[in-house]
Parts: sequence; C-alpha cells; structure tokens
Amino acid sequence: MTIKVALSGAAGNIGYALLPLISSGYIFGSKAVELRLLEIPEAIGSLAGTKMELVDCSFPCLTDVVITSDPLVAFNNADVIILVGGMPRRKGMARKDLIQANTKIFSSMGRAIDEVASSDVKVLVVANPANTNCLVALTEASRIPTKNFCALSYLDHQRAKGQIAKRLGVPTNSIKNVTIWGNHSESQYPDALSCGYCVDKDGKNVPLSDLLADDKGWANNEFITSVQNRGKAVIEARGLSSALSAAQATADCLKIWLVTGTKAGEIISMAVYNDQGYYGVRDGIVFSFPCECRNGEWFVKEGLQLSEFSKNKLNITEEELLEEMAAAQELIGSSPMKIRSVSMSTCSSVASLATAATESDMSVYLTSRM
Ligand SMILES: NC(=O)c1ccc[n+]([C@@H]2O[C@H](COP(=O)([O-])OP(=O)(O)OC[C@H]3O[C@@H](n4cnc5c(N)ncnc54)[C@H](O)[C@@H]3O)[C@@H](O)[C@H]2O)c1
Repeated sequence: MTIKVALSGAAGNIGYALLPLISSGYIFGSKAVELRLLEIPEAIGSLAGTKMELVDCSFPCLTDVVITSDPLVAFNNADVIILVGGMPRRKGMARKDLIQANTKIFSSMGRAIDEVASSDVKVLVVANPANTNCLVALTEASRIPTKNFCALSYLDHQRAKGQIAKRLGVPTNSIKNVTIWGNHSESQYPDALSCGYCVDKDGKNVPLSDLLADDKGWANNEFITSVQNRGKAVIEARGLSSALSAAQATADCLKIWLVTGTKAGEIISMAVYNDQGYYGVRDGIVFSFPCECRNGEWFVKEGLQLSEFSKNKLNITEEELLEEMAAAQELIGSSPMKIRSVSMSTCSSVASLATAATESDMSVYLTSRM
C-alpha cells in the first residue's frame, strides 16, 4: 500500500524542511510514500530542483514525486494533505484582509479536497491563520468528516515545553501535558498548570502546579507571553519565520495523530473542530484543545478543572476566533457558517496506519527524537 501525501506550499521554507521528514520514513515508518507537491505556477520551476534533490537522497520508501499547480491533481485520492501554502501577511495588511485572502485560497482547497481526495483523507493545516483556514477548508469539504481535519498548534505546545524546561532546569522532553488552548496566534492560552507534569529523574510524574507553586507569577505572566510571542522572537532573530521547528512539529503531530497515538497518560495540543462545545467554548470553530490520539483519531481530553483565570483566557482566544470566522464568512457568504457534525471515518489506508505501527517504527521514532 502506498500512502499518497499532498503538500501545498512545498517550495517554501517549511516545505523544504518538511520534505525529508515525510520522505525518509520519519512519519510513516517503512510505508511507501508518493508525494504530490502543490505550488503556485511561479514556484513550479524551483520545485523541479527540489524534486531532483529528493531523487538524489535515495529515500527507500519514496516511490514518486508529482509537481503540480492544480489542487485537483495534487489531492486526487490523497490519503494525507498538509496545507502549508497560503498568503503571507504583508506590511500594512489588515488582519481582516489577510483572513479574506486566505479564505479564498482555503475555500478552493476545501472544494478540491471534497471533489477528489480519499474519503478517509486526513488534513493538517499549517498556513496562517491556521485555525480559520482549517475551518474554511472543512466547511467546503462537506463529504469529508470534520474529525479528519486539524490545524497545527503542536509547535506552540513544544515551545511551551521548552520554556518550562528552561525555567526548571530539566530536559524539554521531561515536560508533559502542557496545553495550548484556542487560536494559533498571540491570543492563545499556553497553560502549564491544568494538567502539566514533569517526569523526574526517578521516573515519577510531578505536577507542574507543585513544581511552580512558588512561581505562579511567572507561570501566569512571562511564561504565557513568551510562548505567545515566540514566533515573533524567531522572526526578529532569524529574519525569517520558524521553519525547522514548524516542520518538525508538523511531522510529529502527524506521526502521533496517524501512526503512534499518544502514550498512556499523555496529551498533545491540536486545533480541532469543536462540535461538542468542549469546555464551554462556542461550537463551530477550530480551537486548540488537549487531545489524546488512538487508532488514527483524536479525542479531546475532557474533565480538566479550569481555574477562573484559565476560563477568562479561553474566552479571549475564543472571541478572536469568532471574529476571524465572521471575517471569513463575509466572503464565503454562509451565515452562520454551517456547523458540521462529526462522523467517524471508515477504515482505509490511513486509518490502517495506526494499527500497522510496529515496534520498530516506534523505536525509529524514539531514537530519532533523542
Ligand atoms: N501553525 C504554525 O505553527 C505555523 C508556524 C510557522 C509558520 N506557519 C505558517 O505556515 C505558512 C508557510 O510558512 P513558510 O515559512 O513556509 O512560508 P513561505 O512563504 O516560505 O512558503 C509558502 C509557500 O506557499 C506557496 N503558496 C502560496 N499560495 C499558495 C497556494 N494557493 N497554493 C499552493 N502554494 C501556495 C508560496 O509560493 C510559497 O512557496 C505561513 O502561512 C506561516 O505563517 C504556521
């Protein structure tokens, strides 16, 4: 079985860093992969060079690389679609204009997915504004279950772990279950305390609420703003937005969602379609929640006790997402944006990936993360 993976924006910075992770087996283990690289016509020439490089890498699992500027070609029977291409924010561009420019793009992506993708396709949206782009695409792709879509908030999740680890002087990977709530934007709420913990030297899980008990001022202030502004800090230092870490987070999110699942007792942050009003958040928007993944599906982890402080933070980011939805709606013209119900996807090539994840796939994954 060959997994057909479509990547939009493949000639961009994130695309270039992501292609080896898709092609080398990092995400899908030993499964054969056929790549469809989607770009605007002006970037097709440079993609031809990237294709040469992919051939020269001799990745054993990469069976074919198709370059196209037609979403119907890229998405035809696709099992996994990663949407990285979009309109960047230009100097002086109002946020509403950015949302509307991307609404046009993601509306046509959604229609193409609806027309030709595998009925079990899994779609990860990376391009900003990621949550609302994802909402627009899934609204247009009414044939595909909403559960098959998510937007990337896992980079923010990893950034949050990094900040806490630095504060506590422990390895980043010992920090678990931080949560990013809401939008992938500066209104997001990075939450260390609701269910975060640290695996100590003896393998014991120590709640971050205990470890940061005397440092709540930091956890409720600088920690939050440092994660919210991390993307900006990278741009200021590098002159370019995060690409290496964004590609890594994209690959890890796909791997955990579709292949390995989350480990027992662990969650990851994923921006998913809220059709259940989880945690009192308005349904009908794509919102980042703590999620568990099993058998190629995500499940919002329910039942966390949120403080009043946290609830207020959720309201702020929810408000921004509702504004973004309204701006997108002006263009799409559906009022209100149709609320879609979740239906379970049926088993096909991607669903079977999760069950086919072998011990050796896991060990490849674990060693490569060290
Ligand atoms: N969700 C996250 O955590 C996260 C993190 C970093 C960046 N991003 C976002 O990811 C996106 C890509 O970032 P980048 O650094 O790779 O940008 P980039 O400008 O280097 O690359 C974007 C690519 O998309 C292509 N593109 C534009 N419109 C397209 C369309 N309609 N169809 C196909 N391709 C199209 C462009 O030609 C370009 O090659 C941006 O929107 C960025 O803001 C998201």
